[in-house]
Amino acid sequence: MPDQTGLEIQGLEVRYGPVQAVRGVSLRAEPGTITAILGANGAGKSSLMKAISGLAPASAGRITLDGEDITKLSPHERARRGLSHALEGRRLFHRMSVEENLRVAWDFRNRGGGFKTVADRVYEQFPMLTARRNTPAGMLSGGQQQMVILSAALIHEPRYLLLDEPSLGLAPVIVQQIFGFIESVCRERRTTIILCEQVAAIALRVAHAGCVLRRGQVVRSGEAAALAADPTLSAAYLGG
Ligand SMILES: Nc1ncnc2c1ncn2[C@@H]1O[C@H](COP(=O)(O)OP(=O)(O)O)[C@@H](O)[C@H]1O
Ligand SMILES: [Mg+2]
Repeated sequence: MPDQTGLEIQGLEVRYGPVQAVRGVSLRAEPGTITAILGANGAGKSSLMKAISGLAPASAGRITLDGEDITKLSPHERARRGLSHALEGRRLFHRMSVEENLRVAWDFRNRGGGFKTVADRVYEQFPMLTARRNTPAGMLSGGQQQMVILSAALIHEPRYLLLDEPSLGLAPVIVQQIFGFIESVCRERRTTIILCEQVAAIALRVAHAGCVLRRGQVVRSGEAAALAADPTLSAAYLGG
């Protein structure tokens, strides 16, 4: 396993035809920390995350993972290097059961044995999923779906985890539970986590560092505590 030197992004740009969604973004995620990417709807958060995992092409800039330039690698090659991406909007196979969804995530990289052990670990972490293991994912509550998403994203024990708006549409008590879990993943497994959120306060409570995107550009960055204490932050991030 290579040394963890973190994820580094320099001068990243993402374009969709005439639309420039990400403009010259540079940031660094230190190993074993949580970095929050904040910004209003349309600020470019998901595009930035997709460029990191390879789902959106970078039209300029450089992405380095543990010292290796991954800018031109396919999503699959990035996943093999330990990068996992949970997309926004709770993407699950809704007609498939909880266990089938976990199985698909497992089979993405590994068709061998060992699935039972990892599935058992998921049910240990989220006991309420045990009774739902054969329930179609579309019939779960939003919080339970987010638990399946997180479990699927973690199934290969990635070293880097990208989470796109994990709090979206969830009740506050569930958000607390989900973020408590995210924090424990970082602390116990030393997973480097980058998460994006529209709700700055929630993300900054667990993050170590963060930045604010506005129209595709970083307009603020720093330690999470300093960002959380900054009274002008909400104006910056609500500005779109
Ligand atoms: N596939 C796409 N094709 C064209 N424009 C897109 C596409 N995805 C996102 N955009 C545009 O890029 C900008 C940033 O979007 P996005 O990265 O989804 O922001 P956020 O996740 O912060 O809401 C928006 O103007 C959005 O309309
Ligand atoms: Mg988004």
